[in-house]
Amino acid sequence: MDGNGRWAKKRLLPRIAGHKKGLEALQKIIKSAIKYNISTVTLYAFSTENWNRPSEEINGLMNLFSESINSETDKLIENNISVLVLGDITIFTKELQIKIKSLVKKTSKNTGLKLNIALNYGARSEILMAVNKATKKKSGVLLEKDLTENLYTKNMPDVDLLIRTGGQRRLSNFLLWQIAYSELYFIDTLWPDFSEKDFVNALYFFQNTERKFGNLKVDK
Ligand code: FPP
Repeated sequence: MDGNGRWAKKRLLPRIAGHKKGLEALQKIIKSAIKYNISTVTLYAFSTENWNRPSEEINGLMNLFSESINSETDKLIENNISVLVLGDITIFTKELQIKIKSLVKKTSKNTGLKLNIALNYGARSEILMAVNKATKKKSGVLLEKDLTENLYTKNMPDVDLLIRTGGQRRLSNFLLWQIAYSELYFIDTLWPDFSEKDFVNALYFFQNTERKFGNLKVDK
């Protein structure tokens, strides 16, 4: 969800105004994901590198996460969405940790869209965590499945389509293990301007891509 800061800057607004607008874009995209029967959506909401930002922006984002849990929990339940958090949340305030855990618990029985929110997430540390957990459980050679079972995304399918808004063509330490065979979709549109139409175009791109997984041809 890249481009919130630039969206705000263009309008001479503080960066947090861009994140607030980004949250509105997110609400629209979640509705579209349900409409188009997507099983899982994973959002990169806060990376391990985002701590380097000015404290004003970090505090603003933490407040936004906290306030959106207050305002959205009932809607998430009504829409049968289950929420999971990817990342180490122990660094957040006790209050925010409790809110996040309670949101995850309250939505855990929901059977509709799976919404993963990456918070204080970094793929390299996730992979390291998984390796360390796996070697504690098993001696000798590790298999791919030993690692996948210890990622935050355990029991989830690999990513089919990765969308990055905001014009940068890089992965920024996001789900590096899980995107080994993903289709990558980069769009210049800033996240707050990312519309349902843009989302559907990304889905068309995915639908029209022949996925080979290293073979000559795979039928979708
Ligand atoms: C990247 O844009 C965006 C973020 C670091 C924050 C994304 C968070 C939201 C959209 C709010 C989501 C809320 C919940 C509850 C999941 P940027 O700030 O790097 O933009 P820039 O590249 O233009 O500076």
